Amino acid sequence: MGDAVRGHTAGMPSDFSGATAALYARYRRDLPVEQAVRLAELARLRPDDVLVDLGCGTGQLAVPMSEHCAAVVGVDPEPAMLAGLRARGADRVVCVLDDNDGLARLGATLGRHVGSVTIGNALHWMDEAATLRAAAALLRPGGAVCVLTQGPPMWLGAARWQLAIRQVLERRFGPPTGTCRTDPAALAERADIARGLGLAVQVATWTADHPVDTDWVLGHLGSAMDPEQLTAARDDLAAALTATGVGMVEHVVTTALVSRRP
Ligand SMILES: C[S@@+](CC[C@H](N)C(=O)[O-])C[C@H]1O[C@@H](n2cnc3c(N)ncnc32)[C@H](O)[C@@H]1O
Repeated sequence: MGDAVRGHTAGMPSDFSGATAALYARYRRDLPVEQAVRLAELARLRPDDVLVDLGCGTGQLAVPMSEHCAAVVGVDPEPAMLAGLRARGADRVVCVLDDNDGLARLGATLGRHVGSVTIGNALHWMDEAATLRAAAALLRPGGAVCVLTQGPPMWLGAARWQLAIRQVLERRFGPPTGTCRTDPAALAERADIARGLGLAVQVATWTADHPVDTDWVLGHLGSAMDPEQLTAARDDLAAALTATGVGMVEHVVTTALVSRRP
């Protein structure tokens, strides 16, 4: 599907503004509560820690992780995403308009009081090595950088309904060109970078099954696609989903790369 789906083609400009941010707020799930508990355990997060969530979007990690620390600093360069996060009214989440380069500035403010830096489904938008280095520099001793991916993207999944939407998208826009760095090779590269920074690396994988309906699938696709292209494909996608029948379930695999400072 070529460049129809954001994140598929290296070098594409990101556009997470306006309607996209609204669709994120509605159609991107939070990390499930039990996975947030596991992540806090693996990161050895303390109740008095500050957690920095880089590329926080509308709070898919920031809000659930705020239950496990004193405060979360959600960092994102897109004002509309931060507006969506603020609208959630999470009382231990502070929003900061900045990008990965802002980690160094945060270091000057927060010193080494950061128990964890989390990056969920966002590292592929950044200079990965530089960002991991800056994140590691923020950590208190024993703190951890946690990179989460939830892949493959919905349109590359193996369920019958997912194959059906992929066929529609491929017919219109060509074959997919990437997996948003959710693949094992990307995980291995990131783990190598973390080891090179002197961090101790652990990988955890969790799964969850979510029943979905046509509204949810189209809304989720809307959060990832060019709006005009989605409008053009919308009727075909809805028809393909209807044809695959009821009982659609999305199997989501979450991979956490947890890299601890000694
Ligand atoms: C796919 S969303 C992920 C949102 C959320 N973390 C999640 O797990 O669903 C990617 C987010 O990264 C942000 N982003 C893009 N480039 C960035 C950069 N250079 N530094 C920090 N965040 C960035 C976008 O604005 C967007 O909110």
